[in-house]
Amino acid sequence: MVTRLLVLGLLCLVVRESLAEEGSRSAELFEQRIMPIFRSSNPSSCIQCHLAAVDLKKYILPSHEKTFLSLRDKGLVDLENPAKSKILTLIRMGEKDRDEGARLIHAANRKAELEAFSAWIEACCNDPKLRSLPKLKASDLAGPERPNEVIRHARKIRLVDSFVRNVWSQRMRCFPCHTPHELDESNARHRTAIQKQKEFRRQYPELVSRLKIFHKTPEETLQYLIDHSKKTPLGDIPMINLKQPQDSLLVLKPMSKLPNKLDDGRFPIPGRTAPLFHLGGLKMHLNDHSYKSFVAWIQDYANVVGDRYESVDDLPADNWVATQYILRLTAAPDSWTVTTPVQIFLHAKNKATGGWQSEPVAFTQGTVTPRHIVNGALFFFGKKGPKAHAVSREVAVEPGEYLIKVYADKTRRLKKDPTAMLTPEDFVGQAPLKVGRWRPGFRQAKSVSGANLIVPKAD
Ligand code: HEC
Ligand code: HEC
Repeated sequence: MVTRLLVLGLLCLVVRESLAEEGSRSAELFEQRIMPIFRSSNPSSCIQCHLAAVDLKKYILPSHEKTFLSLRDKGLVDLENPAKSKILTLIRMGEKDRDEGARLIHAANRKAELEAFSAWIEACCNDPKLRSLPKLKASDLAGPERPNEVIRHARKIRLVDSFVRNVWSQRMRCFPCHTPHELDESNARHRTAIQKQKEFRRQYPELVSRLKIFHKTPEETLQYLIDHSKKTPLGDIPMINLKQPQDSLLVLKPMSKLPNKLDDGRFPIPGRTAPLFHLGGLKMHLNDHSYKSFVAWIQDYANVVGDRYESVDDLPADNWVATQYILRLTAAPDSWTVTTPVQIFLHAKNKATGGWQSEPVAFTQGTVTPRHIVNGALFFFGKKGPKAHAVSREVAVEPGEYLIKVYADKTRRLKKDPTAMLTPEDFVGQAPLKVGRWRPGFRQAKSVSGANLIVPKAD
């Protein structure tokens, strides 16, 4: 009996001691392994996919106890099964990345974070006193300040998808000079272009590096544009201008004219400062459809990496899907001055009511030319939201009757925000459009005459 009591007493002592040990061990682990992550000026492994809005640091508070309670109260710790804690799942996300390069780059960092958090959480969960402390006040919880929608929007993969729809999709306007991978030796129609490119590169070897803009894949192209921008010498216009998106070299160069030839018949080498010249000549126009989508993408990119989106309302719809279907307005009214930006929306029939759908299915934008024509390739409106982008899906305009609604920016609203959609105040008229088979390309454009535009009477 006595011995039994003794043994029990001893056991209690051992248990109590080991509990105290767990308590101090978790505090020690926190100090040694979690605080360095908190203090580090380098981004955590989350950056592999999240360009902004989340970082592992955001879940850490300077107090060991509060950090644990905060994770516990947010449901990120599994008290019974610490190894299955959600915070560890978040850290492990990077292992599943299909981008092998990115997976490798962040592997060491991820491993260190995972080991640190696993050991510390395990120690915390073994400390009954810590586990059962009362809940923290909601205002004391740690974690990203941004809502989940903003976090999802700031993912790299979403920006790449958007890049494909808004910039990569327009690359054939830069063919053949900046798209070496689109040149096909076996295509008879490419032969002259290939020959001319060879000749040009031989004549101007110093310009060869400036021609490689569109690389083999959208990802490589994007990386190139970002790297190029980081290396901008002082005074030059950056390829991607984070401060003023519409003043990016990527946009301004193709909107610049050819320089005058020198006396020896050669072109002077254009610089990267104003006044700009482009040896490719005018390839994009202020407020045309590619200009709009280029600027929209750069603006979104700048806002993401600048962590400037705070709420869901700040997010752009980012749902334009590029096509090669050309919509044309001819005989634009004389009262519209040349270069006025015009938006044309395509509305489909509402099958149930026989009327027109209030939401357009597609739009384009162009400017009034000296011959009073407006041209543009259609962008379809995809679904909104993070999983809505079907880039590769070929959109086709189904045969049928459509209504086009035309808006003219006579007050130059787009000057302030080139990505904006015009408002009912800018509405100038509508007309029906019958579509049989619509094929991509300029020669297959569908036209509506400005003379047929009517403004329906309000009922
Ligand atoms: C391999 C890519 C990848 C990595 C690395 C990654 N995440 Fe994510 N994360 C995602 C994806 C994909 C989503 C969007 C899930 C969805 O849309 O349902 C997401 C969404 C989120 C969300 C929003 C909540 C939600 O369910 O949508 C949070 C918070 C988050 N991640 C935190 C983190 C943290 C913290 C890290 C680093 C420890 C991290 N992520 C690392 C891919 C990743
Ligand atoms: C007919 C050939 C040609 C076409 C088409 C063309 N360019 Fe160029 N582009 C050039 C040449 C040559 C240069 C190098 C000399 C210069 O800076 O003007 C250049 C330079 C550039 C530069 C500067 C690159 C740097 O590193 O300084 C950008 C940006 C650019 N072009 C964008 C475009 C875009 C975008 C398009 C399509 C919308 C386009 N260009 C279409 C020939 C072309």
